[in-house]
Amino acid sequence: MNAFAYRDGYYHAQDVAIRHIADAVGTPFYCYSRAAIEARYDAFADALKDFNALICYAVKANSNQALIGLLAARGAGADVVSEGEMRRALAAGIPASKIVYSGVAKTVHEIEFALQQNIRQFNVESEQELRAISAAATRLKKTARVAFRINPNVDAGTHEKISTGKSENKFGIGIDNAKAAYDEARKLPGIEVCGVDMHIGSQIMTLNPFKAAFSRIAELTQELRDAGHTISTIDLGGGLGVNYDNLNDNAPTVNDYARVAKEAVGHLDCDIIVEPGRSLVGNAGVLVGSVIYTKTNGASKFLIIDAAMNDFLRPSMYNAYHTIVGGRQSNAPEEFYDVVGPVCETGDTFARKRKLPLQEAGDLIIIEGTGAYGSVMASSYNTRPMIPEVLVDGSEFRVIRRRPDYDSMIALDIPWGNSD
Ligand code: LLP
Repeated sequence: MNAFAYRDGYYHAQDVAIRHIADAVGTPFYCYSRAAIEARYDAFADALKDFNALICYAVKANSNQALIGLLAARGAGADVVSEGEMRRALAAGIPASKIVYSGVAKTVHEIEFALQQNIRQFNVESEQELRAISAAATRLKKTARVAFRINPNVDAGTHEKISTGKSENKFGIGIDNAKAAYDEARKLPGIEVCGVDMHIGSQIMTLNPFKAAFSRIAELTQELRDAGHTISTIDLGGGLGVNYDNLNDNAPTVNDYARVAKEAVGHLDCDIIVEPGRSLVGNAGVLVGSVIYTKTNGASKFLIIDAAMNDFLRPSMYNAYHTIVGGRQSNAPEEFYDVVGPVCETGDTFARKRKLPLQEAGDLIIIEGTGAYGSVMASSYNTRPMIPEVLVDGSEFRVIRRRPDYDSMIALDIPWGNSD
């Protein structure tokens, strides 16, 4: 389904013209489509129907309460990586029994909070963390259900900053050390081993890395079972890529992904957890900005918009490509624009030499595919207020995060000399 499209010449989110929202809310803002999110979740659930599967939405992709709430109502669980994310998942209605806690290094305080909630599973990332969980569980007279995050040493073939499953990455326990870790876990008080876990990276655009990693995890599961460990759950992580440009349609489908999973681990008769983030919400959101000014420097024509790298970091951080379109269809001659924000950094660039019909100050500019890792990675750099988020449902829209005012931003600081 395409929730974002031109209708009668104007860019719409479902049945609402983006211009209408812009006039009501002011730019820049993020805009999400309820139907798009629900359709993606349903496609995932349908693809995995042969498994006893729990879809634990990776909250880090977009942690707005309204979005988590939509997924909770559909039956989703949550994959969280901090106490803050766990609190967000719980507040949005995801029961603790559907929460898995990943995260490279959980603090004692965070572990205690998770134990008090009785979450479904800790995905443990190191032997030291395991011992901290055991000690906390013993203190609180709880039992922690644990899986080790296994680093299968597979190249996910994605951007180096979001590749996590190679042995040189900081994530998980090397597959060669797994058996020893499970043997230790069996002996520790307060620990109940329930499964294995993996996650090799994000925005993975071919199935081969998944195939390789899933089969290593399947082999390990067999070895662990042979050694007497109870492995009843396999957490396959997230990572399925999405199409970010409107020219190619080459992301693997959820059905193909599910088939690969079935072939690799189906025979093990385990419950399956998946942790998709981007593939659920990435293409369910857009970032809407307005042109402030245009200008020409040398050979470059700049479209300076009111959204900036602090609102949406992916192009600056990963050189990510995102489709950019105008708010209305136009027959005006096309120009090659550098689309930039007003922040004082050259890296504040969304696209270079991007072909767009001639734009003028006040025109809307839409950056597509920004539902995941957009608002969550935003900051208030340059003391720019975090931008609002809007959710569209049919012909209705609602602000699901307000823009903070300057006074409340400044009031977080305590001037030197004010002791009270
Ligand atoms: N599970 C774990 C343990 C993860 O670390 C991640 C993402 C996911 C699940 C969800 O992965 P997804 O299905 O969304 O690919 N900021 C980067 C992406 C960082 C992903 C980190 N981990 C970006 O904008 O590309």
